[in-house]
Amino acid sequence: MDNSYPPPADFAARANLTSDAQPADRLAFWATQAARLDWERPWDEVLRWEPPNAEWFTGGTLNAAVNCVDRHVAAGLGDRVAIHWEGEPGDTRTITYADLHDEVRRAANVLTELGVHAGERVAIYLPMIPEAVVAMLACARIGAPHTVVFGGFSAESLAARITDCDARLVITADGGFRRGAASALKPQVDAAVARCPGVLNVLVVQRTGQDVEWTERDLWWHETVGTASTAHYARAFDAEHPLFVLYTSGTTAKPKGILHTTGGYLTQAAYTHHAVFDLKPETDVYWCTADVGWVTGHSYLVYGPLANGATQVMYEGTPDSPHRGRFWELVAKYGVTILYTAPTAIRTFMKWGEELPAGYDLSSLRLLGSVGEPINPEAWRWYHEHIGGGRCPIVDTWWQTETGAIMISPLPGATATKPGAAQRPLPGVSADVFDEAGQPTEVGHLVLTEPWPSMLRGIWGDPERYRDTYWATYPENYFAGDGARRDADGDIWLLGRVDDVMNVSGHRISTTEVESALVNHPAVAEAAVVGASDATTGQGIVAFVILRESAELGEELVGRLRGHVAEQIGAIAKPRQILLVPELPKTRSGKIMRRLLRDVAERRPFGDVTTLADSSVMDLIVEGLAPAA
Ligand code: WT7
Repeated sequence: MDNSYPPPADFAARANLTSDAQPADRLAFWATQAARLDWERPWDEVLRWEPPNAEWFTGGTLNAAVNCVDRHVAAGLGDRVAIHWEGEPGDTRTITYADLHDEVRRAANVLTELGVHAGERVAIYLPMIPEAVVAMLACARIGAPHTVVFGGFSAESLAARITDCDARLVITADGGFRRGAASALKPQVDAAVARCPGVLNVLVVQRTGQDVEWTERDLWWHETVGTASTAHYARAFDAEHPLFVLYTSGTTAKPKGILHTTGGYLTQAAYTHHAVFDLKPETDVYWCTADVGWVTGHSYLVYGPLANGATQVMYEGTPDSPHRGRFWELVAKYGVTILYTAPTAIRTFMKWGEELPAGYDLSSLRLLGSVGEPINPEAWRWYHEHIGGGRCPIVDTWWQTETGAIMISPLPGATATKPGAAQRPLPGVSADVFDEAGQPTEVGHLVLTEPWPSMLRGIWGDPERYRDTYWATYPENYFAGDGARRDADGDIWLLGRVDDVMNVSGHRISTTEVESALVNHPAVAEAAVVGASDATTGQGIVAFVILRESAELGEELVGRLRGHVAEQIGAIAKPRQILLVPELPKTRSGKIMRRLLRDVAERRPFGDVTTLADSSVMDLIVEGLAPAA
């Protein structure tokens, strides 16, 4: 049986790592990895751990941007391409490390001129253009933590994030190109900033040239950064200086601002990028397809690859624009050797058919990666055969916004891979599967049993929520929120979220957040949202809605409700389906039984109803739906 795929001999012979064994001394191991970076002052202590608060490389100082850019230029690598950028319409830019060096220093000078001081937050709301990378690094360079907000989020979501972390500057663009058209961003920023008095300026990149409203606080990037001086002194910051805040959905309606700091984060981002992707910076062309608005973009498009001096591809648009072979055209054009993408994309390519990739020369590829959700074995095998030509190892990387960097993954030159399993904690990482009592078990909750350098340092402004969410279930062990199974070989298989968080196309969306968006529409009395399995997106959002008696029924109402959610949160949170129902199944204590609603959404007979306050409710729901189902 073709159950496991040993590393190809020629791959293993040249691999950066040939063993996935754990180091004898974990802290000494991480100290060795931290030495990949340039430190201005060495640390006094590798780890200070007072659960749940960690400090890594205490006393050390460094500058993250210098580590990602300046030191490569100083080492004579200024001419190396950092980014092969491809715009969706087909325009391109080649950015060397020397170019990046100039741009980041210019942008840093502008931020300082605008009065941004170390420690003050800057919000970034940009399409996938090089300025997004420059903006993040410029913030890092002056020690101003960035909060990148994915361009698909609504004005409402943007405003909530700006307000929560009290950002004083927003960096955006007129728009970006998506599916062949200019898609505006600035209007959302204008709407958000109107409600955020703390924002003093908006710095605007001209990408599409579309018309924009202009106010006194707005500045063009090309008129400021474009003309600024490249002379900029980068001071070093404490290893624990905040590097960024990135919002992610939790089990309540309010997203959590996940805080990452500098030294430990950069150490683990760089180490994992070297180890898991087997990066050879002189020869590889690496491509991570994630947007910079997600943590994958932070760690594996910006900080990891650039700290390692990689050459990478950055693409602005969607995989189907202007045609469904665009990704494979780009792989062939740039000679991509390492490709990192998500199962939802792979399943979409499967749907489009293997003839498409077969029409392109993909022979440059040598390693494939997957992230965002468990990859089903069928998609794994398709990826292996039709993209990897049967010769490329696949690394299925498990991690989270909170972990900052990859935690569980095969090592391509050392691990015999199993389709569908993330398998092994990386060297230096300790994971386990616990039962409710906190004992190791075969099927249970995934926990991380030791602190790690790139771990979150907290939730912005909410230490209590940090403790409750991650450290209360199993004291001194990190509760990841994922179900997991350990097989007879000791390998870990991820089983999906165990909380009220959905995973749609690899993006975390809170059921509660979508519910409160629905309830805030005047026609809605009550709403319950579930993630129903979806062949392409992993899960799809299905909402059960009870209308107010006063609500006017009508064909368009469901469409309007979907639009309302998109307006409240962003298009990614738009329900796949909204079902109007007379009642919701609730327990005697009033808790909605989502399990039963999931049964309905996935169209199977519903399970045990004995705990319902009124067990006839389910019949009522299903009867009402019969014509539609
Ligand atoms: C959640 C984290 C990490 C970057 C992208 C998502 C799920 C992620 C895998 C994987 C199984 C995975 C988990 C996790 N997840 N990667 N390889 N196998 N599940 O980051 O938005 O913070 O979501 O994504 O459920 O908890 P995120």
